[in-house]
Amino acid sequence: MTKARLRFFENSVNQRHITDADRYLYQQEPPRYNLVVIGTGTMGQEHMRVAALLGRARVLGIYDQQVHSMDAAEAAYRAISSDVLRRYADLESACNDADADVLMICTPNFTHLEVLKTALASGKPIFLEKPMATTLADAVALLDAAENHSAFVQIGLQYRYKAQYQEAFHEVKARGSLGQIHTISMSEYRPPFLDKVGQWNKFNCNTGGTLVEKCCHYFDLMNLMADSRAVRVYATGGRAVNFLDFKKDGVASDIDDHAFVCIDYANGIKASFTLNMFCADFSEELIVVGDQGRVVTHERFDFHAQVPTQTSIKVEIGENGASRSTQLSYPKLIEQSGHHGATYYEHIALMDQLDGKQVDCATVQQGLWSMIVACAAQESLRSGHVVSIDSFLRAQQLQHVLEGGKV
Ligand SMILES: NC(=O)c1ccc[n+]([C@@H]2O[C@H](COP(=O)([O-])OP(=O)(O)OC[C@H]3O[C@@H](n4cnc5c(N)ncnc54)[C@H](O)[C@@H]3O)[C@@H](O)[C@H]2O)c1
Repeated sequence: MTKARLRFFENSVNQRHITDADRYLYQQEPPRYNLVVIGTGTMGQEHMRVAALLGRARVLGIYDQQVHSMDAAEAAYRAISSDVLRRYADLESACNDADADVLMICTPNFTHLEVLKTALASGKPIFLEKPMATTLADAVALLDAAENHSAFVQIGLQYRYKAQYQEAFHEVKARGSLGQIHTISMSEYRPPFLDKVGQWNKFNCNTGGTLVEKCCHYFDLMNLMADSRAVRVYATGGRAVNFLDFKKDGVASDIDDHAFVCIDYANGIKASFTLNMFCADFSEELIVVGDQGRVVTHERFDFHAQVPTQTSIKVEIGENGASRSTQLSYPKLIEQSGHHGATYYEHIALMDQLDGKQVDCATVQQGLWSMIVACAAQESLRSGHVVSIDSFLRAQQLQHVLEGGKV
């Protein structure tokens, strides 16, 4: 039986006099696992924060090529944990600390394959941030390498754990409220890509392109919702507003800032995705329509107004039954720890996976399919043609992935 817990109440101002000896509801098991975080920028630090909040693992050590990133990460971690972090001098020693149970790779996209190779040689379980790589060839090489790894490799596609998508999946798949689904549309409206170390995210060669870097999240969600493989992709878009005058070491930025992508799935479902990256604030929408009804989800993160994220789901089924409209939230501490709580639930899956349990986190195969759609969309955007996934993979001698496991 699960013990009742009131963990997040323990730090309330009027509860600080409770000593360890009197902790029952506030009690927490000591962390069972040791994490090593490789790349301690924005996302590496988010993983450190979330690990401390969840409390099932401690951060054992960190490695980053830039000392300032480690200094910043260490200072932020000190504010939430008394654990002393090990600092590794190089990637090999970070990957091969005998006390580490899992390696978390949070370096920029263009480094993933090389860093992963050293990580795989350790034989340890690995968490690799999305997107897996910058090219399809590298993503497939990564899949092949991961399939020969004795431990698991988990991919950081955590949007599936956002409250509205969890609820939408439940509505569509478990309750079947919409009947047979036929169309899926998603959109993201947001500000430009943020500043990064070395401004790596301003160049397609470092990211794989905007549709790979950012939109692999949404392609993963649509692949999961469609429960099928993409067969054709068409995209249009380009560079309208962002970073038009941006140069780094004399090289001009080449990243896109808006796009429309259409996807045909093998099972007949049609999907569309809209991206706009020159908005003042963040919003996401998902609309799934079946022969019995429609689900609409919204997420609005208005940091100018400094109001908490607004997240909702509407289930509209007309005369087929009760429709409803619901505001959704996770506990605030969880939402504030990163990506509106999604990263926290991704960590639960990571810990469960270390415990040997079945989990629903992103597999390498799913990471690859998010990249296949993203790379096909980039190619369509470049060429102006519809991209057949079959021909696209064959042209790169990658058709063997079509025979691989489930989407
Ligand atoms: N899952 C998500 O929602 C999400 C969100 C943001 C970023 N990301 C991904 O996380 C990764 C990192 O992005 P970020 O926003 O933290 O970038 P960042 O620039 O803030 O941090 C990257 C860090 O990696 C370090 N680094 C670069 N090359 C390295 C190497 N070879 N070895 C060790 N350290 C190295 C840099 O010095 C920097 O500190 C990217 O792949 C990005 O796409 C995922």
